[in-house]
Amino acid sequence: MSAASAPGKIILFGEHAVVYGRPALAVPVTQVQANATVEKTGEFQGENWADSVLVAAPDIGLFSPLSRIQSEHAPHPLAAVIENTLQRLGIDRPPAFRVTIGSTIPVASGLGSGAAVSVAVIRALAGLFERSLSDEQVSAIAHEVEKLHHGTPSGIDNTVIAYAKPVYFVRGEPIQTFSVARPFYLVIADTGQAAPTRESVGDVRKLWEADKSRWEAVFDKVGEVVQEARSAIESGQTSRLGPLMDANHALLQEMTVSSPELDRLVLAAKTAGADGAKLSGGGRGGNMLALVHPKEKAPAIAESLRKAGAKNVIITQVG
Ligand code: MEV
Repeated sequence: MSAASAPGKIILFGEHAVVYGRPALAVPVTQVQANATVEKTGEFQGENWADSVLVAAPDIGLFSPLSRIQSEHAPHPLAAVIENTLQRLGIDRPPAFRVTIGSTIPVASGLGSGAAVSVAVIRALAGLFERSLSDEQVSAIAHEVEKLHHGTPSGIDNTVIAYAKPVYFVRGEPIQTFSVARPFYLVIADTGQAAPTRESVGDVRKLWEADKSRWEAVFDKVGEVVQEARSAIESGQTSRLGPLMDANHALLQEMTVSSPELDRLVLAAKTAGADGAKLSGGGRGGNMLALVHPKEKAPAIAESLRKAGAKNVIITQVG
């Protein structure tokens, strides 16, 4: 038997513009996790090995042979992650096995649930066959699967989750991590509205296609915010981060990826004393984050967010 887990992630700055080559900053969120367990259940028999692989995801009511998932739901991310990992490991006739998946990361909420499930399954499978894959290899397999979740992913989710480190991410470039000179505190609140990233990413693409020069200029502004945020984090000037979050949220509103619920939570956090707040991830629902200083303010801000309708609130330290 082999088991692995992977954290969630939160994008601090730069979502959406990151799809267009601008940098973004993201960190792992260890309070939420995806888990995968893989157990051999016998020898492979029959024509198709995928008949002997059982996929169980009790949280979503899925108990099915892999072959049925492939035929009824193709392309299915869970089927793809198993197939791609076995292919990467060079295993074409695996023994019968069962994959059991669980996750405390809310789906379609901007916390990287899809990428975390992929990373946990990839590592658990590699462990079952006593093989080790580098973080880069794990991230690359998860990136292929992310394409099924949302079309043109930048790769930031699979990168921050596979490496489980703070990441300064530029699409197509080698991973850079960043240092946190002084820890800072975030309150992350979930609108409770599932919002598929595919849709918001697709809508931003339509805007960009209709007026590239306007949106390239908006993405440039996001890129400047990200650079300033990185230098503030690396030099311990965390008080500069609040206004930068507000500026990033305004640019995301311009991209039409906020929502009345996200704006309500952002306003509630600010009214309760947060230094800055913004949506995080694909938007239109999912999570927002607020910068809290000093950390003693966090419980009161979390309470205000619950009163404003947040379904789940996480307080986390970065650094
Ligand atoms: C999703 O977590 C972040 C987006 O920027 C999409 C992506 O980078 O693939 C919205």
